[in-house]
Amino acid sequence: MKIFSLCFALALAGTQLAHAQTAAAPDAPPPGLYAALGEKAGIDRLADDFVERLLRHPRIGPQFKEVKPAALKESLAEQFCVLSGGPCTYQGADMLDVHADMDINKGDFNALVEVLQRAMDAQGIAFSQQNRLLALLAPMHRDIITVR
Ligand code: HEM
Repeated sequence: MKIFSLCFALALAGTQLAHAQTAAAPDAPPPGLYAALGEKAGIDRLADDFVERLLRHPRIGPQFKEVKPAALKESLAEQFCVLSGGPCTYQGADMLDVHADMDINKGDFNALVEVLQRAMDAQGIAFSQQNRLLALLAPMHRDIITVR
């Protein structure tokens, strides 16, 4: 858990870094991240394993029991692809709308981030690159966490 806290702190710090790096073009994705994730094939593998891990997670797994795994994998892969600078279009729902009625708290959010870290480890994605993706996801907590 300590390692996770450190990772998440780094992710939040990375948010600052990402902003600094993209000062000239605020919406530009971090250079090289799409390639570091293994392009679309690597991202598809990551999303696949990530969702499988989410489904069997003791704390947040039950929240996903009504979800069609294939559709969630596709949306997550599109989202990670777009965020990392890949040639994709995100066709899923808005983060605020889709999570609005799920009563998600900070612990749930952190649990999901931890699962994603494990999935990225399993894909052999470098720690520094993991933190760049996490830094892009971290600000979404404002739309996703509805129970404070
Ligand atoms: C950084 C954090 C998160 C990100 C980036 C994220 C991203 C997404 C994306 C892209 C979708 C698909 C939307 C669509 O296809 O229209 C989704 C759906 C979903 N998310 Fe999240 N999510 C996050 C956190 C969470 C957390 C913490 C939970 C619950 C513990 C959660 C539960 C769900 C569920 C159950 C769905 C399926 C909704 C449905 O298909 O009806 N998410 N999320």
